[in-house]
Amino acid sequence: MKVIIPVAGFGTRLRPHTLTNPKVLLNVGGKPMIFYIIDQLIKDKIATSIILITGFLGDKIKDYLDSTFDFKFDYVVQDEAKGLGHAVLCAKPVFKNRNDEVLIILGDTLFDVDLKRMISSGDSVIGVKKVDDPRRFGVVEKDGSGYIKRFVEKPSSSKVSPSNEAIVGLYYLKNSAKLFRSLEHIMKNNITVKGEFQLTDALENMLSENEKMKTYDVHGWLDCGKPETLLETNRYILKKRNKKITKEYPNSKIIHPVFIGKNADISDSIIGPYTTVNDNCIIRNSIIKDSILEKDVSIENCIIEDSIIGEGAVVKRDIHKINIGNNSEYKS
Ligand code: UTP
Repeated sequence: MKVIIPVAGFGTRLRPHTLTNPKVLLNVGGKPMIFYIIDQLIKDKIATSIILITGFLGDKIKDYLDSTFDFKFDYVVQDEAKGLGHAVLCAKPVFKNRNDEVLIILGDTLFDVDLKRMISSGDSVIGVKKVDDPRRFGVVEKDGSGYIKRFVEKPSSSKVSPSNEAIVGLYYLKNSAKLFRSLEHIMKNNITVKGEFQLTDALENMLSENEKMKTYDVHGWLDCGKPETLLETNRYILKKRNKKITKEYPNSKIIHPVFIGKNADISDSIIGPYTTVNDNCIIRNSIIKDSILEKDVSIENCIIEDSIIGEGAVVKRDIHKINIGNNSEYKS
């Protein structure tokens, strides 16, 4: 089966990190987020072809994947980020047999899900998760027999949402020809939301052409699109892996779960829980928890929490020498 992974977005919600690195190469739990998606696809042996839709900083993604996996990837450039629907349509030339089935996975979302089971129902399947506040998401509305009858993009706050099943970014479609036809339809008719061609509009069009689609509950849905969700995913991965660090660092305490990369130089510090420290970081006299440190970061005299620190960054504070009188207040 062919798998399309769109990775051409700018990742604006993760700036400044995404100004110099594509979002999918940001590290979570010790690996770039795209690693987990590709690793699962290759291990599960469900992809005959993996097509990456690249754009801004796409060469970095290509270099990383080609040097990490023994797999021949297809790369298609989306010259302008015109939305997810447009990105998926860019993959059309790779589909020589237009009736191929297709799996679409968003590059910035990890899934703890049994993909083989998800695609085994015989129908097209859309990954969903029940959420408390569906108004922030695209949702699906189903008929009595469990088939999707409507897609609703971000039900507005004035309306009652028709369902609480949010679309999570995992789409299995039996017939790529129908998908591409529907994408071309929304492009031709200039059907956009906030100026972008949406995949959900094409799916809606497929429903109107009697395509049968079911939902699949995705419990492990790990969004990496915003700083807070990236850190949440970091926690999830570290907790799940729960690998104990046996190496000792001078006068330091490691509170698991953590990931510590190669050549980390740590002293007089407390690291963890839920902290990823990538290769070559230097940490002195600091406390770091719930954070991600990219490679070559240097930290001294700091207490750091819920933070993402980019490659090569230096964060140092002075040690304050204080000579302070009774009943004074000093805050820093
Ligand atoms: P998002 O909208 O979540 O990602 O798209 P973004 O645009 O990169 O991030 P923000 O909103 O600016 O912070 C979900 C996935 O679809 C890809 C993105 O790269 C991401 O993996 N995408 C989105 C494209 O490939 N092309 C597009 O035109 C839009």
